[in-house]
Amino acid sequence: MDKKVLVTGGAGFIGSTLVRKLLKEQFEVTVFDDLSSGLRDNLPKNKKLRFIQGDVRDFKAVSSAIHKHPYIMHLAAQAFVPLSYELPLQTAQVNATGSLNIFKACLDNNVNRLIHISSSEVYGTAQNTPMNEQHPLHPHSTYAVAKATADMWAQTLHWEHKLPVVILRPFNTFGPRESLPYFIPEMIRQCLKEPTIHVGNLETSRDFTYVEDTVEAMIAALQTPNVEGEIINIGTRKTWKMKDILNLIKKETNTQEKEVVIEESRLRPKDVDTLITENRKAKKLLKWKPTTTFEEGIKKMIQWYLKNGKLWGYEKHGWPWRY
Ligand SMILES: NC(=O)c1ccc[n+]([C@@H]2O[C@H](COP(=O)([O-])OP(=O)(O)OC[C@H]3O[C@@H](n4cnc5c(N)ncnc54)[C@H](O)[C@@H]3O)[C@@H](O)[C@H]2O)c1
Repeated sequence: MDKKVLVTGGAGFIGSTLVRKLLKEQFEVTVFDDLSSGLRDNLPKNKKLRFIQGDVRDFKAVSSAIHKHPYIMHLAAQAFVPLSYELPLQTAQVNATGSLNIFKACLDNNVNRLIHISSSEVYGTAQNTPMNEQHPLHPHSTYAVAKATADMWAQTLHWEHKLPVVILRPFNTFGPRESLPYFIPEMIRQCLKEPTIHVGNLETSRDFTYVEDTVEAMIAALQTPNVEGEIINIGTRKTWKMKDILNLIKKETNTQEKEVVIEESRLRPKDVDTLITENRKAKKLLKWKPTTTFEEGIKKMIQWYLKNGKLWGYEKHGWPWRY
């Protein structure tokens, strides 16, 4: 196996954990990222790591970056759902058309394997639980529509041209180096830094996988033979309500006394109530299962935040958007 892999979005939250793991597994890694939400200093210093600053909307740049890489892992995306309410066109251009650029360049360059990172958001609210890969697609945001579009293009190009793609649909992921103001990093930040805690909908439930487990699934998908064309959910098959997560973070940060204020402006126009995955396919095809419990993951995340200057990526970036 020629161990050269290109990771788009590698300077982001999940991407930078994936890059670390790939380097440990002796891969030579190229990161392609426009640093719109990712950070250069999310990446470790390593002789086997190269960085290209580029935009997936630029086909020429994508094509020349992919050249001579047999393995591609595509994570670059406008990944913050609330931003897609404000910027639907940009979200479509990056998440849908940008992905099509990657797929076409992979075909032109005859890559051996492409891992396309989709999202559980394509399913919308659970119509039956747990949600397997046959669950109907009912996207509730333009973010999710763009992700679903990219998935369908990927699968169609697999059928038409044998694009060697594996489509992974991670449910929510959490852990160190979060770059977007999602619920868990925001609750940790607010508990440790704010006098009161401001929240939106505390009644929704999500299936959270610790980031180290998520990237294990991605690497398994890269290395497992005969899984091209498959769509595979990645999740724990357990669900956590936001209210309970907040209580756990308050307990772990010793901030039980802080007042919680529900703000109308933080409610989503059409929220997904529940997401919970059926992960049987990942277990069977990829021999993957999550190993970090939610409680352990939260503890590790708080420790990381305290040790790393109490700054998530969006705080360093000075992002104006908030959960
Ligand atoms: N975080 C989650 O819970 C979750 C769940 C399901 C799926 N995903 C998917 O996983 C992937 C990674 O998400 P993340 O949470 O690490 O988000 P992130 O924002 O930290 O990472 C996305 C990366 O893509 C880069 N990027 C954005 N637009 C780009 C462009 N036009 N060209 C090149 N690079 C660009 C960003 O700079 C960033 O480094 C995304 O595809 C996201 O949709 C995330």
